[in-house]
Amino acid sequence: MRIDVDPARTDPTAVYRLLTATVVPRPIAWVSTRSADGTDNLAPHSFFTIASVNPPVVQFTSVGRKDSLRNVEETGEFVVNLAPEGLLEQINATATDFPRGTSEFDACGVEREPGHRVKVPRVAASPVALECELHSTLRIGDSTVVFGRVVHVAVDEAFLDDGHPEVTRMRPLTRLGKNEWGTLGGVRELARIPYQG
Ligand SMILES: Cc1cc2nc3c(=O)[nH]c(=O)nc-3n(C[C@H](O)[C@H](O)[C@H](O)COP(=O)(O)O)c2cc1C
Repeated sequence: MRIDVDPARTDPTAVYRLLTATVVPRPIAWVSTRSADGTDNLAPHSFFTIASVNPPVVQFTSVGRKDSLRNVEETGEFVVNLAPEGLLEQINATATDFPRGTSEFDACGVEREPGHRVKVPRVAASPVALECELHSTLRIGDSTVVFGRVVHVAVDEAFLDDGHPEVTRMRPLTRLGKNEWGTLGGVRELARIPYQG
């Protein structure tokens, strides 16, 4: 037996809860931005993925018009910082709806480091930072998808194994449904099977 849901006839909040509990686990972009008047902003976004490979573009979605989106529109830059398990409390704290002039870096005690190609600061303790220049935005209803061209990648070498980011060292967090967070589970390796016709 299945329960059938018609989104067009269902409360949007219930649809949101259903989608975010179904599309799991979602990687978390810990997005840093800077406003035109110089306030540094930091907020987690789990509607996040790679959009294209060449050129390298990543995307995150702002549900509503939040400070991160406004800053990207103002300055054309953002940084996606990988969100590691050890920083869970801090990451969650930066999702607080602080007033626009308040920097989550300062309010939540997150250490910054300067960006290499962008004026936006990176999170010093994050294993990998993707520095992005705004590619485009796409408005869909109440949400805006932000596409950023990756112009620089900064990897902490402590998280590299044979030159490759090692997931068991980075221990990325994920977002599940409700207020649930996922931590890294078992990692299995399995080679792709070439077609032998
Ligand atoms: C784990 C996690 C994931 C989140 N993902 C998103 C998201 O994908 N899009 C979004 O608009 N808000 C998301 N939020 C909520 C924002 O982080 C929150 O609204 C924040 O205050 C926005 O900050 P800003 O106004 O400084 O941009 C998420 C919150 C958490 C804790």
